[in-house]
Amino acid sequence: MSSHASDPLLTPFSIGSVRLRNRIVSTSHEPAYTDNGMPAERYRRYHVEKARGGVGLTMIGGSAIVSRDSPAAFGNIDLSTDEVVPWLRKLADEVHDHGTKVMIQVTHLGARSSNFTGDWLPLVSASRYREPAHRAFAKEAEDWDIERIIDDYASAARRVAAGGMDGLELQHWGHLMDSFVSPRLNHREDEYGGSLENRLRFPLRLLDAVRAAVPDDFVVGVRMSMDELREDGLDSDDAIAILQRYIEHGVQFVSVTGGRIESDRALAEAIPGMGTPSAPFLELCRTVRAAVSVPVLHATRIADVPTARHAVDDGCVDLIGMTRAQIADPYLVEKLAAGEEDDIRPCVGANACLDAIYVSGSAHCIHNPATGREETLPQRIRTLGLARRSRRVVIVGAGPAGLEAARVCAMRGHDVTLLEASDRHGGQVAIAARSERRRDLIGIVDWRLQQARKNGADMRFNVLADEDTVLDLEPDVVFVATGGMPNTEVCAGAEHVLDVWDVMTSPVVAGQRVLVYDDNGSYSALDAVERLARAGAEVVYASPERTIAVDVGSMNSPAYLRSMAEHGVPSRLTERLIAVEETDDGLRATLRNEYADTETTTDVDAVVVDNGTLPNDELYRALKAGSRNGGAIDYDAFVDPLGTLRAQATAAVTATADAEAEEEVPVGSLPDAPGYELFRIGDATTSRSVHAAILDALRLSLLI
Ligand SMILES: Cc1cc2nc3c(=O)[nH]c(=O)nc-3n(C[C@H](O)[C@H](O)[C@H](O)COP(=O)(O)O)c2cc1C
Ligand code: SF4
Repeated sequence: MSSHASDPLLTPFSIGSVRLRNRIVSTSHEPAYTDNGMPAERYRRYHVEKARGGVGLTMIGGSAIVSRDSPAAFGNIDLSTDEVVPWLRKLADEVHDHGTKVMIQVTHLGARSSNFTGDWLPLVSASRYREPAHRAFAKEAEDWDIERIIDDYASAARRVAAGGMDGLELQHWGHLMDSFVSPRLNHREDEYGGSLENRLRFPLRLLDAVRAAVPDDFVVGVRMSMDELREDGLDSDDAIAILQRYIEHGVQFVSVTGGRIESDRALAEAIPGMGTPSAPFLELCRTVRAAVSVPVLHATRIADVPTARHAVDDGCVDLIGMTRAQIADPYLVEKLAAGEEDDIRPCVGANACLDAIYVSGSAHCIHNPATGREETLPQRIRTLGLARRSRRVVIVGAGPAGLEAARVCAMRGHDVTLLEASDRHGGQVAIAARSERRRDLIGIVDWRLQQARKNGADMRFNVLADEDTVLDLEPDVVFVATGGMPNTEVCAGAEHVLDVWDVMTSPVVAGQRVLVYDDNGSYSALDAVERLARAGAEVVYASPERTIAVDVGSMNSPAYLRSMAEHGVPSRLTERLIAVEETDDGLRATLRNEYADTETTTDVDAVVVDNGTLPNDELYRALKAGSRNGGAIDYDAFVDPLGTLRAQATAAVTATADAEAEEEVPVGSLPDAPGYELFRIGDATTSRSVHAAILDALRLSLLI
């Protein structure tokens, strides 16, 4: 079953008075796209795009905050001010225009923020508490805090109703509400602590206040963990009993989650990524759904349509969240409904979206650069139509950058030939996908290969392209996407070291003593450590940084840290590798402390170095002199392809009108002159990331 209207995923469903056109939801998540706490332009475009893509319900405002003493921890929407109302209204109106309903998650973060941001007010929790992830010491909420916060909830609810939202969801999970209900976090001796009835007093009071603040037909739901999965936590029986009380007080749906979020490890397990089983909480949902009278919504690692369909069809849930799946492809529902399931860009579970909030300030999908950049980049190439002139495009290299260029150029109607030296596609992604943990990454390059082929790109493997090979094809445009090679030149004696690719592509000898030196801070050294340790090598991790793999965020590092602990891999931080020399029975590595300048040596059988890559740029340099643009990129056009295309289209129309010309005026960014235009993209430019490589390729491919 795929495109048929009887697809259970595409059947309508009502929560109270709100009728949803299908069962697919984007659950609350904060991508940090706010502007000073307001859901302004970028935020709105992001959700409107999902609405265009067909989602039934989009929940905005992951953790939108109600009080001054719940300062934004990750770009949250600020519901503590009336200023937010017109922004909500504009967003709601535009989302509604596309047939999608929109609700918002409302919360007081409790201890899950910082004492040193916003108004610098002390954080509160039910009792004194320091949440491991955010590390703030929160005070015990006093009587006047409780009254104030309940009022704040009511005011926030009034604002979201005035802002035209179709409903709200109270965030229980890991925030202030949880801290009151949880016997683990609530040690109060007043009427808000002790018995379940007392622990429920605060949430029930705020729920009553919220219900009183909104119209009767306004939907109010709750998002809560229905099994905390820890011995001293709430299990599903406890959680169902609590939920029943909320339902008595007007809760109309439950968004079921599992586990906890208070630490990096807990959050990574609660929002699991690649290398973990699909749909881990569906049975929990089934139990909850059987026990309660309200609709059950659930999202956790349901990344593909068949699993989502099963969840609905089999009665586990009423509504299915496919949140990261729609960060990866906001047109998932439209493609499903049109019978184009193969075209859905897969969510590979890299969790770069979450980690990017802390690493680069806002959510970015590892392989959808248009998400969060809707103003400057299109989600659907097809909606742009064909380029005004079909050009002959030659792409060298079938890594993520080259494949993205092939996909986009082919979809724009260009005549595309891709040349790849090896016998397969994928480049560094294919190497990374050799890690058991990260094998799903292969979806990034498989999807692009399939899409490029489907749109007519000629993919030629086992062709080592030089200048002549490229010029023989008489290109109008050449993309050099030849990637990079590991750079191991970090110390004296570098000729004795191995690189991380060697580890990923060769058998490992058990029992060998290996020093893995990480001066990149990314995944590759961790993958090498894990592969070596699993194969029985004695591994030591060393890095000049203060933390292990400094750029691997909190969603992805826990699995590696666990593996390192399980295999007894010690780490030597703040140590720089300065020399490797041969000895009678192996190698001697000298490390110098970054702060004390003290030197130590360690005897090993092998040293593995990760220091990023050096660009494979011979071909680019060879082609540069003969190109029309000398490899130059117009950065003003590059950073805003949609704006550039719009400006060109306007200029073309004006020029046509002025000249009363019959023939079409070209609108490509390039002058119509003989010769070829040359661009290099991805790591052929400099060592970066998969996202950066694909972003380069998409931007340039739209402009030719
Ligand atoms: C970037 C990002 C931010 C998120 N922020 C929140 C949040 O503020 N509140 C919340 O309840 N869930 C948040 N989530 C969790 C999602 O709502 C959802 O539960 C999770 O992504 C699992 O569903 P999925 O596998 O369909 O993506 C966030 C998820 C992502 C990817
Ligand atoms: S970054 Fe990874 S997990 Fe997040 S949406 Fe993209 S593919 Fe999915």
